[in-house]
Amino acid sequence: MAHINENYLKLPGSYLFSEIARRVNEFKSQSPDADIIRLGIGDVTKPLAPAVVEAMKKAVDEMGNAGTFRGYGPEQGYDFLIEKIISNDYAPRGIELGMDEVFVSDGAKSDTANFQEIFGMDNIMAVTDPVYPVYVDSNVMAGRTGMYDTEKGQYGKIVYLPCIEEKDMKPALPTTHVDMIYLCFPNNPTGMTLTKEELKVWVDYARENKAIILFDSAYEAFIREEDVPRSIYEVEGARQVAVEFRSFSKTAGFTGTRCAYTVVPKDILVYDSQGQGHSLNKLWLRRQTTKFNGVSYPVQAAAAAVYSEEGKKQIRATIDYYMENARIIREGLKEAGFKVFGGVNAPYIWMKTPRNMGSWEFFDKLMTEAHVVGTPGAGFGANGEGYFRLTAFGTRENTEKAIERIKTRMK
Ligand code: MLT
Repeated sequence: MAHINENYLKLPGSYLFSEIARRVNEFKSQSPDADIIRLGIGDVTKPLAPAVVEAMKKAVDEMGNAGTFRGYGPEQGYDFLIEKIISNDYAPRGIELGMDEVFVSDGAKSDTANFQEIFGMDNIMAVTDPVYPVYVDSNVMAGRTGMYDTEKGQYGKIVYLPCIEEKDMKPALPTTHVDMIYLCFPNNPTGMTLTKEELKVWVDYARENKAIILFDSAYEAFIREEDVPRSIYEVEGARQVAVEFRSFSKTAGFTGTRCAYTVVPKDILVYDSQGQGHSLNKLWLRRQTTKFNGVSYPVQAAAAAVYSEEGKKQIRATIDYYMENARIIREGLKEAGFKVFGGVNAPYIWMKTPRNMGSWEFFDKLMTEAHVVGTPGAGFGANGEGYFRLTAFGTRENTEKAIERIKTRMK
């Protein structure tokens, strides 16, 4: 008899975004004529940049030619892409990285979910609350957490770091010892950022406690304000304690193309039960070379084109477009009397539901009365209850329409 990993039974029935899709489809089958605007999952609507498409086509042609065909590539990613990542995303900010410290992958979702495999089951993990659900669910699947407490909306053995309005949605350091800390800034779902000084507090904590920070920086390209750090490595000492996850998904419209990268500095040590330190970089390399065969050549060639002069210009224009959507949502909601967070350095706007309405209740009301789909805050954790997330990744037309409908139908 085949037995299952019973940790899977601790999980709620479906993943947040699958549950939203299910509800939308159910509503659509009842009201087939409803003109639904989707500002729920953070999926982009603008096509790939022309420079990216051109590079991908060229690479596909190379794959069809015996002279230029490529089979398995390096599991860690092609040097031509890693070199561009380092020289464009890090070197200009004074961050030095070795070629073997960058691991190209198919997504920050899979990397943030997989990375916990390296750590022992007795590690205590901390997450912000609200949080991108992948960090929690992947640790539940692995068996690092306790059971789900439906009353609290939280798992046992996880240290939750509340991000609440009174604290400007910023987490405070844990009051008990933790070993693994997931941070995401610019934040999904609140859209808020930390200053360099605030980030330093976490780096210092990690250094003092021999903890590791798993820093999800998937929304870095949306930072507008000069004083917001672009990378955790801008903070002194972060190289010893922080892994950084980046993605081309939101930066360059790769949600359907799949390419990302993870930085694992060689300075980071993790310890065995005898207290002996081991290189986290080597362990991740071992994991990746065993379980992953790399991202396809045409996709990596396409990602490299993101850094060409043309590519940079085109991508910047798309990000500007989304950030104008963010401004429209943010200002529109404010005008309508809603309390809002984020949307300044991130493509997410985190709004307070009216009259303390439950976030799933607001989701249903917004969908059925305004035909606008967002993401209920409760889906991101107990402290997300009473909040709601909208994304700036829609088209301009739909974004404007959605705000107009919220203003007129959701008072
Ligand atoms: C989100 O909506 O939070 C994101 O699309 C999720 C993701 O990137 O996987």
